[in-house]
Amino acid sequence: MQTHHQLDPLRRAVDALKQDGPLALVPTMGALHEGHLTLVREARKRAAHVAVSIFVNPRQFGPNEDLAKYPRQLERDSELLAAEGVSLLWAPDAEAMYPDGYATTINVGEVSEGLCGAARPGHFDGVATVVCKLFNQVRPDLAVFGEKDWQQLAVIRRMARDLDLLLPTAEAIHGVPTVREADGLAMSSRNAYLSADERVQAAALPRAMQAAIAAMRGGVPVESALEALRASLLEGGFASVDYAEVRHAESLVPLVALSDAPARLLVAARIGPARLIDNMAV
Ligand code: PAF
Repeated sequence: MQTHHQLDPLRRAVDALKQDGPLALVPTMGALHEGHLTLVREARKRAAHVAVSIFVNPRQFGPNEDLAKYPRQLERDSELLAAEGVSLLWAPDAEAMYPDGYATTINVGEVSEGLCGAARPGHFDGVATVVCKLFNQVRPDLAVFGEKDWQQLAVIRRMARDLDLLLPTAEAIHGVPTVREADGLAMSSRNAYLSADERVQAAALPRAMQAAIAAMRGGVPVESALEALRASLLEGGFASVDYAEVRHAESLVPLVALSDAPARLLVAARIGPARLIDNMAV
C-alpha cells in the first residue's frame, strides 16, 4: 500500500492505479473500526483498486467540539488498511488540504438543515467542502460511505448531483448499512469516549429506536412514539436528546405520519462525553 501526504505524488499514483480499472474512494477521519473496514470490503468488490483517505477535517468541527481529542492513530490504521488490500492511503497534511489563503466553502441547502445541521452549525458545510476536495484530489470512479451518517450521505449525494460531479457521479456514491456491536450499538470512533458503564447504557439507543419503530408500525402516532423514545433514553442514562425525528429517507423532509414514502428514524443523544447518532428504516 502506498501512502501519500502531498497532492502531486498522490495525483501520479492515482493516474497509475487507474490504468488497471475503476478506482474506489473510502473517505474517513481515521480511528478505524470494523464499520470502516466493511466499507473498504464493499469498495474492493466494486473496483480494481481502493483508495482510503484519512483526514481529521477541522472545518466540520464546531468551536466547542472534540477536534483536539478526536482519536488519531495513523500507524495502526495504516496496518489495518494494508491488511485489507487497500492500494492507496491518502493522508493529507492540513496544509496540503487548506493552504494559506484558502477561502471556499460549499453549502448544500435543504438536506443540511435540521437534525445534525441544527445541532452542529456549519458542520455539513465543512463535510461537503472536504468531500468535494477529496473527490477532486483522488478522482474516484465510485465512493463508499457508511449509512450511519445518513444525513451526511444525503448531503454528499445532493452536492454531487447539484454540481454535476463526474468523479464520482451521484449515482456512483454508495451507502453501506451500519455495522453494529453485539448489543445493537452502531459502531463509531466516538464510542471510545464512553466509560464501561456508559457503554452498557448506550445500547438503550438502538433498543429504544426499535421499540419506537415497532410502535409506529403498530399504529401509534409518530409524535407519541418519539416522545416515548425520548423518555426511555433519558430514563436509560442519556443526559439529553438533541433530536428524534422521522424524515423522508431521501429528501429528509419531516414526516408527521407514516405513508408509502420511505421513512427513516434519526436520533442524536448525549451520554457522558459522547454525542451518539443513529438511524433506522421505519
Ligand atoms: O464520515 C466521516 O468520517 C467524515 O465526515 C468524512 C466523510 C470523511 C469527511 O471528513
